[in-house]
Amino acid sequence: MLDRYIQLLREGEIVAFPTETVYGLGADAWNPSAVQKVFKKKGRPSDNPLIVHVDTIPAVEQFAREVSDEARTLMHHFWPGPLTLIFKKKAEVLDLVTAGLDTVAIRWPKHPLSQELIAQAGPLVAPSANSSGRPSPTRAEHVREDFGEDFPVIDAGKTAIGLESTVLDLSATPYRIYRPGAISWQEIEKIIGKKISADDDKKSDNTAAKSPGTRYTHYAPDAIVRWLDVNETIAMDSRTLYLLHSRRPKQEGENIIVYEGDFQKLGRELYDRFRQADQQGYKAVVIEPFADEQEDSLIPALKNRIQKAVK
Ligand code: TXA
Ligand code: MG
Repeated sequence: MLDRYIQLLREGEIVAFPTETVYGLGADAWNPSAVQKVFKKKGRPSDNPLIVHVDTIPAVEQFAREVSDEARTLMHHFWPGPLTLIFKKKAEVLDLVTAGLDTVAIRWPKHPLSQELIAQAGPLVAPSANSSGRPSPTRAEHVREDFGEDFPVIDAGKTAIGLESTVLDLSATPYRIYRPGAISWQEIEKIIGKKISADDDKKSDNTAAKSPGTRYTHYAPDAIVRWLDVNETIAMDSRTLYLLHSRRPKQEGENIIVYEGDFQKLGRELYDRFRQADQQGYKAVVIEPFADEQEDSLIPALKNRIQKAVK
């Protein structure tokens, strides 16, 4: 089933494929013209580096200059899975991939199709397979929406997690999270037995300088996205889509989606809801804020993505 896509990648073309987080836009990590096509297709600024996707732990050594014992512990524990690790890079890694930085981001995704694809045609760079600024794709249809009906995409239905991987910089002291994801900082601290810095994105200019992707507007639909006010009445307003996780609305309506504390489901569906909002002509997406006492390992990632979409 994958033959055609493997062939395309080997010929230096780009192909969208499923991972457990979101669909990625893959290209041969060692082929500069293929990598260039990724930037062009997405309309991605060239100063925003890409993640290299591998399918074994030893493959990291093709790209990383130093692999510490702690890095190995993390890889053994969390890979394959939604954790991207940043290492000091080897000189031969393409500057195009790392946007000229001295570091390289690497992850081993979990989806069986992505593993087979990488085994046959990888390592692959793969940003999320959306046009720059649009919500990441969690279904093959989303990729076609952005790149056209004929674009080669390996369709494996909905992705399991729906939000992009956690990005952890192992070249910083202390280690630092640039993008929260399904693997939480608490889990990471537990495994390596020391504190990491979990300050995310906009709070820190330093993060923006170190991880360029965090600087750009992201994940946003055309509809306005905003947080629900505490005293706000939830209306059967056909122009507003409400995403609630804890409050119970007095009435029901197609425009009121209730997650009843299922944050994982909200994570799986968030980007799909953003895209649906645009397709169905909603003017606003209004999302219930998270309370401090709510505990779910996905909440920091959800807050981060929603806050980025709030204009
Ligand atoms: O779940 C994911 O990570 C998905 C799937 C397809 O694997 N990929 C993804 O890639 O989200 P992308 O390109 O949309 O986001 C990569 C993020 C960007 O914010 C980028 O700036 C950051 O990782 N990044 C990549 N290399 C970096 C580096 N060397 N130093 C700091 N940040 C880096
Ligand atoms: Mg992206």
